[in-house]
Amino acid sequence: ADITLIGVPLDCGKARQGCLMGPDAYRVAGLQPALEALGHSVTDMGNLDPGPDLPTGGPAHLVQPGAVAAWTKRLAEVGRGIEGMPVFMGGDHALALGSVAGMAQRAQDADRPFFLLWLDAHSDYHTPLTTESGNLHGTPVAYVTGQPGFDGFPEVTAPVSHGNVCMIGLRSVDPGERDRLAATDAVLHDMRRIDETGMAAPLRAFLDLVAAAENPMLHVSLDVDFLDPSIAPAVGTTVPGGATFREAHLVMELLSESGLVTSLDLVELNPALDERGRTARLMVDLTASLMGKRIFDRPTRGYGYA
Ligand code: ARG
Ligand code: MN
Ligand code: MN
Ligand code: MN
Repeated sequence: ADITLIGVPLDCGKARQGCLMGPDAYRVAGLQPALEALGHSVTDMGNLDPGPDLPTGGPAHLVQPGAVAAWTKRLAEVGRGIEGMPVFMGGDHALALGSVAGMAQRAQDADRPFFLLWLDAHSDYHTPLTTESGNLHGTPVAYVTGQPGFDGFPEVTAPVSHGNVCMIGLRSVDPGERDRLAATDAVLHDMRRIDETGMAAPLRAFLDLVAAAENPMLHVSLDVDFLDPSIAPAVGTTVPGGATFREAHLVMELLSESGLVTSLDLVELNPALDERGRTARLMVDLTASLMGKRIFDRPTRGYGYA
C-alpha cells in the first residue's frame, strides 16, 4: 500500500502532558522501516501544525476546547485530501475528532460506506455537555456521530452511523456516556464479553458486516489503553484487564487478512511514561502486523490440522 505517516503532536485533549512526543517516539521505534520491510511505500509528511485556537463555547471546565477545535479542522482537511492509507501518529485521542471526520468525509466524497473500529478501554462517547473531566479526548465518538454540544467546532458534514461503529476492549465507561451509547445500535464488546468469546469471533462478525458493504472504507482507532498496562505502560489512562500481547496481535492479524482497513490512528502514547521505549515498540509491531507482518508468509502444514 501507499502509506502516509502523519505526525499529530496534539496534547490538548486532557490536562496531563506528554503525547506531543508520540510521533517522534514512533519514528525512533522505527515505524517507517518496519512498514517498508513489508513492501509498502511509506512517506512521512512530518508533524502538522493546527494554527491558532478557534473561538468555542461550552462549559467552563472544558480543557483547551479552542485548540482541540483548531486541530479538528486541520486534521479533517488533511484526512479528506489524503490519497492512499494515512496513519495518524498521535497525539492523544482528541485527534480522532478530526481524523475520523476527515476520513468519513473522504468516504462520502467517493460514495463509499464508512465504518469505524474503536479499540479502547474507553468508549469516548462524552459530549462537552456530559464530560465530568472536561477532557475532550473522551469525546471523539460522540462528535463524529453528530451528537450536539460541540459549540464552535467544525460542523460534522459526514456523520458516522452508529450501526457502522464497533468498539472492542471496553472496561471504563462513565455513567454520562453509558446509557446514551447503549441506546444506539453501535456494536459494543466489553472485556467481560471478550473473556467469554475471545477476540476472534466478535471481530470476524464485524469484519463480515464491513465486507458485505459495497467498496467500504474502514478506519481503525487504536488507543494504547486498549492494551493491558502490563505490556503497555506508556499511557495516562491505564485501566487493568486490557488486551494481552497475543490478543492484540490476533486483532491486527485478522484486520490484515481482511484487507479492509483504509486508515489508522495510533493514539494516547505518552513517551514520558514509557519504560525504555517498550510501548512505542509494541505499537510499531502491532502496526506491522496490521500491515501484513506474518510469522509464515504462506500456508503451512498444521493450519486446519491438515
Ligand atoms: N471517560 C473518561 C473521561 O471522560 C476517560 C476518557 C479517556 N479517553 C481516552 N481517550 N483515553 O475523562
Ligand atoms: Mn480513547
Ligand atoms: Mn482509552
Ligand atoms: Mn507482529
